[in-house]
Amino acid sequence: MDFAIKMGTLEKQRGACAIAGIFDARKMTESAKILDKLSQGYLKDILASGDMEGKANTTLLLHSVPGIPFKRILLLGLGKEQEFKDKAFLAAFNSALNALEKTAVTDAVLFLPDFPLKHRNNAWKVSQTAIATIAQQYRFNQLKSKPEAGSNRLKKLILCIDNRAELDACEEALQQGLAIAHGMSLTKDLGNLAPNICTPTYLAKQAKDLAKSHKLKTTVLEEKDMEKLGMGSLLSVTKGSEQPAKLIVLEYQGSSKKEDPIVLVGKGVTFDTGGISLKPAAEMDEMKFDMSGAASVLGTLLAVAELRLPLNIIGIIPATENMPGGKASKPGDVVTSLSGQTIEILNTDAEGRLILCDALTYAERFNPRMVIDIATLTGACVIALGNFTTGLISNDDELAQELLAAGESIGDRAWQLPLWDEYQDLLKSNFADMANIGGRAAGTITAACFLSRFTQKYRWAHLDIAGTAWKSGKDKGSTGRPVPLLAQFLIAQTKSIR
Ligand code: BES
Ligand code: MN
Ligand code: ZN
Repeated sequence: MDFAIKMGTLEKQRGACAIAGIFDARKMTESAKILDKLSQGYLKDILASGDMEGKANTTLLLHSVPGIPFKRILLLGLGKEQEFKDKAFLAAFNSALNALEKTAVTDAVLFLPDFPLKHRNNAWKVSQTAIATIAQQYRFNQLKSKPEAGSNRLKKLILCIDNRAELDACEEALQQGLAIAHGMSLTKDLGNLAPNICTPTYLAKQAKDLAKSHKLKTTVLEEKDMEKLGMGSLLSVTKGSEQPAKLIVLEYQGSSKKEDPIVLVGKGVTFDTGGISLKPAAEMDEMKFDMSGAASVLGTLLAVAELRLPLNIIGIIPATENMPGGKASKPGDVVTSLSGQTIEILNTDAEGRLILCDALTYAERFNPRMVIDIATLTGACVIALGNFTTGLISNDDELAQELLAAGESIGDRAWQLPLWDEYQDLLKSNFADMANIGGRAAGTITAACFLSRFTQKYRWAHLDIAGTAWKSGKDKGSTGRPVPLLAQFLIAQTKSIR
């Protein structure tokens, strides 16, 4: 899929299809007016016929309109002009893509100033349309003997602007949008893969491949290495599994060696049965997505490497299965973490925090500027925020604000929950330094409280993506989130004065 940014209104272009927006009550956008003039009122007649009233997300494809340099016009309903906001723009654009998918159109042209958004410039629209187009064309066909046929004939999208001063920013936004989209596709592929294929070993191999193609450095710690280090907590989770656990470390150096890195830690449970605290059978297949945090670290590093961001970034991925079995950890087991703190495992299904805590302690050795962990950590987060919003908890309010702002700007939003001392008491254990669960109340916060005991030495933020990393139901699959949030955050870091 190719994208290009061009100067000028639609009549300067030519090709298979022009997309022209119509607001509610048949109000023409600038492009529609231009095409109407060239065709001597053809569009006005169509609108008068009532077949296109401008209702949100409706489309009407016109062929052989006289006097215009396009084979087709796709009229695109934009809804009420006063209600036209980010979401309406993206919904309308997706409707256009879906309509084009049913045609033989190979290239389409869009005039971005047709879509007035209060707090967004054309550069924003560029990156969003690039991300949306690649997302719309994404298919996971790897495991089908015959790929689904017919779609993806659109090969080129031309985005027009009318202000030369915006050209550089739009070009930059295009590169960023493409890099983010590529990162999301990688993250989706890994999430969607079957758990018999996407094992810890497979994740390690993917990290090595990514390192090779994008000049990163990888180190993979094996179980014996983790034993030597004293990662008793991480190792307790893998005990029931036949698959060896891996601790994958990826290093991207885009800045001088002396600069302290940003560390991303991603939960890589390639299948979560719950262990001895076994999960119910219904929808258990979805626990293959329990490595989405890990996948988002790889996807983000891909985006960062493509953009050659001038930052040093380290990805740490604790990867394991969580299985029941004769050797599996039991409720009541007490383990010693890499930090030296002891943990009573009251529920083997609260395994994410058990692997993350050792990875977070391991992160200390890199002298991090900050550490962000990403994890499908709690079902409670889905109850609290649903599937739209990532949970955010941090020991540093400035860092939290920067992450929230990044999510807001790229449309991959998070919401902050408190990390107040009151909640810490819920993790008290009679037999060890702490328990690994805090009861049903405030499950997302107590999980973060647990992690916070291993992140005292640096600025830290935690993203709970249990609700946002994948979709259930008929569109079941990985979403590629929160790669946009993370990439946008890192892009912003390159601009802030340090
Ligand atoms: N991977 C799950 C969290 C999860 C559950 C994500 C449902 C998405 C949907 C995690 O390992 C887990 O099992 N958490 C437990 C914690 C509980 C035992 C304190 C949970 O949320 O039920
Ligand atoms: Mn679990
Ligand atoms: Zn889990």
